[in-house]
Amino acid sequence: MPEYAFIGRSNVGKSSLINMLANVKGLAKISGTPGKTQLINHFLVNEAWYLVDLPGYGFAKISQAMRAKWEIMIRDYLLKRSNLVTVFALVDSRIPPMASDLKFIGWLGEKQIPFVILFTKTDKLTKKKTGDNIRAFEKKLTETWEELPPVILTSSENKTGRDEILSYIEKLNSEFKTVSHG
Ligand code: GTP
Ligand code: MG
Repeated sequence: MPEYAFIGRSNVGKSSLINMLANVKGLAKISGTPGKTQLINHFLVNEAWYLVDLPGYGFAKISQAMRAKWEIMIRDYLLKRSNLVTVFALVDSRIPPMASDLKFIGWLGEKQIPFVILFTKTDKLTKKKTGDNIRAFEKKLTETWEELPPVILTSSENKTGRDEILSYIEKLNSEFKTVSHG
């Protein structure tokens, strides 16, 4: 079955977004403390496709050894999972571009892993400030990449982006079926 992984820095809002998309409170564990999600968690939707919650990167309060382990686990998953259709790379819309996000997204690009950028927590700042942060991020990307990936603005608080993400997934699901079953 096709699957879609959600990844981004610790605390960016991956688990909250998965709950918002699935419309099930408490499905993926949420916490104000970074590092809540520590395993690769699969959530089956409509018995047809999976939402995948991944541990965040850039979480400072763990040992170097533990962090290296996480990195290998995530890297292996992203590179080897053959039914992984698209990665949703989450970026916090409240802050200016961060090196760790640019580095991770650059890596996805290098490895030619299809991805969409989801800007999270857009309920927090004014439209103007959110827009400034997003434009700054896109500007950083254009320094390295000719083509920008698709971008969707989201908020798990007020369900912004839900329809857009779900229709994006539905479209890819139907293509996945065509490819796998002729
Ligand atoms: P880890 O599993 O630790 O990597 O974190 P995560 O990326 O899964 O983040 P999580 O969903 O646990 O959310 C982290 C914090 O951000 C929680 O306190 C959430 O309530 C809050 N949060 C998540 N999404 C939103 C949002 O859209 N708007 C607002 N205002 N807060 C949010
Ligand atoms: Mg989480």
